[in-house]
Amino acid sequence: MIRQIKKSGGQYFYIGNGAVCCMLKIAYGKAQLLHLGAPLSEDDCEALCCETVLGWEPGVLYREGDTRSCLDELPLAWSERGTGDYRETPVGLLYEGTEICPDFVWSSAGEVNTEEYDAVLPHARGAQETVKLVFTSSNRLLEGLTLELRFSLFETALVRQAVLINRSDKPLKVMKLMSACADLQGSFMVSTFDGGWIREAHIHTVPVTRSRVANGSAGGFSSNRHNPGFLLSRPGVSDDAGEVYGFNLLWSGNHYSSVQRSSVGFTRVLQGISPDGLCLDLLPGGRIETPEAVAAWSGRGYNGLMENMHRFVNESVIPEAWRYQERPVLYNNWEGCMFKFNEGKLLSLAKKAKKIGCELFVLDDGWFGERDNDQAGLGDYSVNRRKLPNGLEGLSKKIHDLGMQFGLWFEPEAVNPDSDCFRQHPDWVLSSPGTGPFYARNELLLDLTKPEVRDYIVESVSAILDKADIQYVKWDMNRNSPVSGNKAYEYILGLYDVLHRIFDSRPRILLESCASGGNRFDLGMLCFSPQIWASDDTDPVERLDIQNGLYYLYPQSTIGAHVSAAPHGVTLRATPMSTRSNVAFFGDFGVEFDLDSMKPVDEAELKETIAYYKQHRKTFQFGRFSRNGTEEGTLCWQVSDGEKTFCGLFHKLIPAGPEIEWLRVNGLDPDRTWHVEARSQLLRVGAYGSLLRFATPVPLDTEGTIIRLADRHYQMRDGGFSAECSGAALQSGIPLGKRFTGTGYDASLRVQGDFQSNVFCIVPKT
Ligand code: GLA
Repeated sequence: MIRQIKKSGGQYFYIGNGAVCCMLKIAYGKAQLLHLGAPLSEDDCEALCCETVLGWEPGVLYREGDTRSCLDELPLAWSERGTGDYRETPVGLLYEGTEICPDFVWSSAGEVNTEEYDAVLPHARGAQETVKLVFTSSNRLLEGLTLELRFSLFETALVRQAVLINRSDKPLKVMKLMSACADLQGSFMVSTFDGGWIREAHIHTVPVTRSRVANGSAGGFSSNRHNPGFLLSRPGVSDDAGEVYGFNLLWSGNHYSSVQRSSVGFTRVLQGISPDGLCLDLLPGGRIETPEAVAAWSGRGYNGLMENMHRFVNESVIPEAWRYQERPVLYNNWEGCMFKFNEGKLLSLAKKAKKIGCELFVLDDGWFGERDNDQAGLGDYSVNRRKLPNGLEGLSKKIHDLGMQFGLWFEPEAVNPDSDCFRQHPDWVLSSPGTGPFYARNELLLDLTKPEVRDYIVESVSAILDKADIQYVKWDMNRNSPVSGNKAYEYILGLYDVLHRIFDSRPRILLESCASGGNRFDLGMLCFSPQIWASDDTDPVERLDIQNGLYYLYPQSTIGAHVSAAPHGVTLRATPMSTRSNVAFFGDFGVEFDLDSMKPVDEAELKETIAYYKQHRKTFQFGRFSRNGTEEGTLCWQVSDGEKTFCGLFHKLIPAGPEIEWLRVNGLDPDRTWHVEARSQLLRVGAYGSLLRFATPVPLDTEGTIIRLADRHYQMRDGGFSAECSGAALQSGIPLGKRFTGTGYDASLRVQGDFQSNVFCIVPKT
């Protein structure tokens, strides 16, 4: 509900529902933020007004003689430098080379029509209500300069946006324009999601103090270094209890957010595009719309926040055609083949992929131009006939004949210098004036700010999509940008234009975006691509941290998660097939290794595993996600659709002589009886190492032919477990079966060595 309330004390705005609430007061023409967070009643608005604490100090008064008008000490929803607020402010304007204060004052409130939105910027859809608060500049030189602050209420989040419209007759330069500014009361911890290539989205938490904590990116994209999303939580918050705020941005370029506690105890939060190097022209008649900024709140710890964020993304960000639509199990040939393949090899892989239950065959890098390694061909769209003599159409037809869908990899934003595209258009590459070119992975980015470059990409990609009967596209981008500031900003607008033009008219194509894994995992890209390749690191143990970080802000359905080879290609860590699968269950499951060298035992296990995932994927992809019962060294992920619940219990390194383990399940009806069943998984004979000698009638060489053959063909059941009990008992925890402690085997023994895991299914007892 959005309400404008007039009281004797002033003008108020109430924007709230059962999940989030924001209350504003217009005082001195400024938007004071009385409250953001817990749902409150509009009757509380007057009680939430604060007084300044100004004494004999140098604080500047906005209204002469009125000590309550010291803006530096008030909680604000927007602010400008030059009005007496000395905290970090969301806007910076230059007029004739000098910073100028617009001093915006409130003029009106109104609704926003969809036609008013920038057509290129991605927007969240399906707001319950939207209001714009309109402010005009009271600076004598800037008469007519207008700021609109938009507030859109979604079922589980609040979305904000700032729009600057130059109705003055002065040309301005915009150095900074944030999407949102908010002052929140009390102490906080701030959590950011940081990393790099193959170690994306690791959570880091520090206290919010008087020193500023800035979370931003500079590589041209939302980045794997610092995801745009972050959290503010009260000290002591847990998975199940306490107050947490989540913030995010619908933007894929350089971003910036900061938090800092003020002298009177407000934490100022800024969210927006990075002002680093920015200097945008705002000419008379012009306007700049910022990306949308999201805020969600939970009083039920991280689990409540994840529920709100996930619902917002699933229902308002993901393209409509893919909302709550089950994602196919895919096979991708990259980690299995890299650049070395031909049609025969691909068909052999596709047949095996089909046999184990994959539904979509994705041909990754290397199908075009002279692309036998990453030094040539990027930018060209002619099919490499040496590898694919029947072209993409021929291959696609054969894949379809096998009963699978066909998907294709593109990296349209880049070129290799050794490509026809670059030879014909050397002036198309992106560079900053007078420097470079600076290479990364032997490639240069194309200048997407140029209309002719955008046309080339749109026409080339569209032609292939229309000819080769393609159901899925992996849109990759594998380097950081050589430019910053305006150019980097305009590049992202160019990218959004290209994505609109290719995919708006092809809504049934499943788009998975990728940037060397998770170098562009953000809500901007998710407006076009329902899922994102989270990381080139498919080692399940590394994925526990990567996916665990992403879940705070992004639902399982947005996270591409594949089973790959062991030992793993980037960590050389050996992990069991069961754990590789169990981790991939909590995302969009895929397979990505050379199936021609798959052992018979792995084939049997994967077949069984994929059938299980397909049967329950709706719950895995879209069920309510939460975490529970985390013991030292253990991680427990839970997804639930109300009837069916799955818990994944994962171990990294296990101690010798382990303690008894307990299964705890959140949120079940406490009075109902539930049936718990461990997913049947398999254990390689070889896992028993030299102990096997004691289990065989005659001692056998563990490196010898007999054991090696047994290891290829024979598996044992692992960790069978079932129980029946009330939801109350499951909430409190039930003990799991005996764990291996140096001897013995039976089908219910949990051979829980390092990197082992189980998935439990919980359904009502029939
Ligand atoms: C990037 C992607 C990989 C793969 C390769 C192909 O690294 O993240 O998944 O597509 O490019 O070159």
